[in-house]
Amino acid sequence: MEETQREFHHEEEEEHADINIWKYIMGFSELAVVKCAIDLGIADAIESHGCPITLSDLSSTLGCAPSPLYRIMRFLMHRGIFKEKLTTQGSPGYAQTPLSRRLMRQGEHSMAALILLESSPVMLAPWLSLSAQVLANGTSSFEKAHGKDLWSYTAANPDHSQLFNEAMACDARLVVQAMIQEISGVENVGGDMFESVPKADAAFILWVLHDWADKECIQILKKCKEAIPEDKGKSKTTLTIHLCAWGNDAASEVLTEVRLLYCWLKTISKPPLRPGFSLGL
Ligand SMILES: C[S@@+](CC[C@H](N)C(=O)[O-])C[C@H]1O[C@@H](n2cnc3c(N)ncnc32)[C@H](O)[C@@H]1O
Repeated sequence: MEETQREFHHEEEEEHADINIWKYIMGFSELAVVKCAIDLGIADAIESHGCPITLSDLSSTLGCAPSPLYRIMRFLMHRGIFKEKLTTQGSPGYAQTPLSRRLMRQGEHSMAALILLESSPVMLAPWLSLSAQVLANGTSSFEKAHGKDLWSYTAANPDHSQLFNEAMACDARLVVQAMIQEISGVENVGGDMFESVPKADAAFILWVLHDWADKECIQILKKCKEAIPEDKGKSKTTLTIHLCAWGNDAASEVLTEVRLLYCWLKTISKPPLRPGFSLGL
């Protein structure tokens, strides 16, 4: 009896493996199809249409043939990115969801630029040589792939720099806008934060420290401290750090995966963190 149960369990595991292996064989396709949707402007077209749109209308708006578009939409609907809804004439149509609105090029929820950045050959290359980074005990795989670190590469490639800045704006747009409304006299000043940080009433560090090892983080924080004048009793001085480490409370599987992979992202552009540091994994 026990032997039969063991055999059954073994067969069940084999069956799961036969199915699950396809997640890895075709894993790249999800990103490819989402990028395709952004490139074609599918979410923007449906939003402009203002109500559910038929395949035929969507294909003529986008200037593509219905058949390949149908396959793309079928995949995106299967993933719950778009949904099916009847048009006003009662025909089957495609409609937006909160997730598809994140694929729009514009709008306060747009995350399109961040997806385009992360799916660009420049940013994918380091991920495709993770094994080299593991074998090299943490040497930056970005540097291995491109011959220089992320920031030097970005400085030397204006197109990548523009894409990077647009991608950062996806997240920063809301936070920074809210702050600027509260604060007057905000000025844009360039420079190397390891040399000096311009004098300011406050320092707000958003998505920066995760890129650096402890030694550099201390340098950055010291420069920020130097930049903020001493509190003489009247003016308040503030140093705000947007912490990027997540706690252990990420309930969903999706966030857990993001968290596990983010740990790698931290070491892709720069040297590894101090041994033992983890993002609450
Ligand atoms: C992950 S981005 C975050 C950008 C922005 N804080 C945001 O949240 O959108 C890190 C930023 O650090 C900047 N950076 C990298 N090295 C720097 C340096 N030595 N001095 C000043 N800024 C630097 C990069 O140009 C990039 O804009």
